[in-house]
Amino acid sequence: MPSRKNIILIGFMGVGKGSVAREVVKNSKYMTIDTDDLIESMENRKIKNIFDLEGEEYFRRLERDVAKWLEESVKNTLISTGGGFYKQKNLKKIGTVVLLDSPFDAIIKRIKAHPNAIKKLKKRPLLADLKKAKELYNQRRPEYLKLADIVIDVTDKSADLCSKELLKKVKKYV
Ligand code: S3P
Repeated sequence: MPSRKNIILIGFMGVGKGSVAREVVKNSKYMTIDTDDLIESMENRKIKNIFDLEGEEYFRRLERDVAKWLEESVKNTLISTGGGFYKQKNLKKIGTVVLLDSPFDAIIKRIKAHPNAIKKLKKRPLLADLKKAKELYNQRRPEYLKLADIVIDVTDKSADLCSKELLKKVKKYV
């Protein structure tokens, strides 16, 4: 396979980055990795445990280590990220940035509709307080939009449809 740039998926917690990444894998030759999964393997514990025992700053440092590794060592890959990973200074050097975008209320509705909704909410410390989460969303959304090379509105769309839109739009970048 010729060398291609990475695709890096950003967006708020619960917007469906993992689901879209899995569909992209089905519909293309990309393989995918997830920054939260990398951190959990590095630490051999769950993100929630890292937040609870070490605090957010420690977690952000781990994200920085992952970002450095991705820039130096990963190619041809679809990289799904945690909702705060976009703050990494070298984000644009890692690959083409694709934002999965949706209004806050639609994201919460999506999480709550999931059969594992309670688990999905529990594993995300920054979603514990929905009022604070909405403030975080409002603060982040303009920053996400500024960084994105491509924006995909995922509201009320299947992950399969989003993945096809992504693969079409990304062609001119990779
Ligand atoms: C975070 C999002 C989470 C995870 C951590 C922090 C954030 O990932 O990285 O709980 O700052 O938005 P998801 O976006 O996959 O939920």
